[in-house]
Amino acid sequence: MSSFLQRRMSEQSKKAEEERAAQESAAAVPPKAEEKPPAPEAAPDEKPEEKPVYQIPPKQRTTPRVAQLRKQLRTKLLATPDEADQWRRGDAEKENLLIGRLRTVLQKAGIALSPPEFEELKEALLNDLMGFGAIEPLVQNKNISEIMVTGADMIFAEQKGKLRESEVVFDDEDHIQWTAQRIVRPLQRALNRSNPMVDARLPDGSRVHIVMPPSALKGTTITIRKFPSKPLTVEDLVRFGSFTAEVGEFLKACVVSRLNMVVSGGTGSGKTTLLNVLSSFIPEEERIVTIEDAAELQLTQRHVVGLETAPPIPGGDGIEGRLTIRDLVKGSLRMRPDRIVVGECRSGEALDMLQAMNTGHDGSLTTVHSNSPRDCMSRLETLCLMAGMDLPVIVIRRQIASAVNLVIQQSRLKDGSRKIVQITEVQGMEGENITLQDIFLYRTPGQTGAGYSHAGGGQLEPTGFRPNFEDRLKEHGFKLGSSIFGGGGKFNK
Ligand SMILES: Nc1ncnc2c1ncn2[C@@H]1O[C@H](COP(=O)(O)OP(=O)(O)OP(=O)(O)O)[C@@H](O)[C@H]1O
Ligand SMILES: [Mg+2]
Repeated sequence: MSSFLQRRMSEQSKKAEEERAAQESAAAVPPKAEEKPPAPEAAPDEKPEEKPVYQIPPKQRTTPRVAQLRKQLRTKLLATPDEADQWRRGDAEKENLLIGRLRTVLQKAGIALSPPEFEELKEALLNDLMGFGAIEPLVQNKNISEIMVTGADMIFAEQKGKLRESEVVFDDEDHIQWTAQRIVRPLQRALNRSNPMVDARLPDGSRVHIVMPPSALKGTTITIRKFPSKPLTVEDLVRFGSFTAEVGEFLKACVVSRLNMVVSGGTGSGKTTLLNVLSSFIPEEERIVTIEDAAELQLTQRHVVGLETAPPIPGGDGIEGRLTIRDLVKGSLRMRPDRIVVGECRSGEALDMLQAMNTGHDGSLTTVHSNSPRDCMSRLETLCLMAGMDLPVIVIRRQIASAVNLVIQQSRLKDGSRKIVQITEVQGMEGENITLQDIFLYRTPGQTGAGYSHAGGGQLEPTGFRPNFEDRLKEHGFKLGSSIFGGGGKFNK
């Protein structure tokens, strides 16, 4: 064995022993809330690791005395458990009512607090009773778009495309549960052992997902996708560099010319945002039916029928009262829609959607969770099989090839930016395979591999191939200059 390995092993066993000793002493004396774990010692003769060490941000804990009072008094300041369900932070009258009650309770119990302690307790309780508990500051911060409570001590927030661990913490699992219950109660939803997962929409349109232990291993997990007060527009996306103004023109032409389009992308890649932008191109005189799990689309046209799935009646057989995306897609065909916009196809509704696209409801739009246009085709196949119609795969594939005209791949790149990375025409079938042709592709300097690049710093460039449906765009009055499809780009060799 090399001396290096021997040294590593003896260092490792020494370190393990030290850790065990540290754990034992920690079990005997509980650590103070502010105490930080000791910084790992680097071996003097070892090169630093190439991967940067993950830095846990310093945590803003409630001081132990205030945390204890916060927990004790949470239930004592309300006349009924649901009294403050509709109250919001910033409502001075209600805040003063609760502050008055707090003063009385403290006085009666003979608890004297210093002014900073009182201030801390007051803010903490108002957040618990009228807001989102510990994460209230993150909810209020307009620059934060997503909040993820992964455990009491681990909360992540996304700001400007970057996901970072936050300094904010919940006091304990009880505290998260309190907040989770406060979120779901006004929505008439139950979160308990018999219904341990909730997917819902808050009154302001934000999307919230909650899952409880034992399924959530680190404690109740809450994910909030904030509803943008102003939805991103095509101009915003062009300004952010998600695509060029020319590509925006091209997409508008495709929507107005009633192409069936699928936005493909991973979780949080910006599919819904792009779907909203595409839908904004639908002419005002057309009747639009939108179908979503939790309504997120914000269309500005007047003639829009918005539909949202309904969960089953709580305490029922799990079916009664339920309306799935599939039910709504089928139902929508009887509503004389000019366009059907489905928030996301994630099951058998894909088959109904394709049939709608193939039977006169062209110009329909949806999103699918997949990593490339090719992957999107096979994902659609799988989703159609989930409809349980026992159709041969080749029949489904033909349906896909004839229904879908364009796949737009959306991606969250390594630098945190969200971009269109591939725009691909579905041209038809060749033998048993669907033929795809890239019209635009995101490439970065020096990129050698095929397909789109995952790195930042590139651009969406024309591949030089003109789409077969160009005549259809012309029929609808769009004469796109040849520069849009122009032969290759800077990086597109
Ligand atoms: N092109 C973009 N540039 C910057 N931010 C964007 C862009 N597109 C979307 N976002 C932001 O990214 C977040 C996720 O967007 P969106 O909800 O559209 O993603 P999604 O793919 O639909 O997510 P999910 O898979 O969870 O449904 C939102 O906060 C949105 O405002
Ligand atoms: Mg979405």
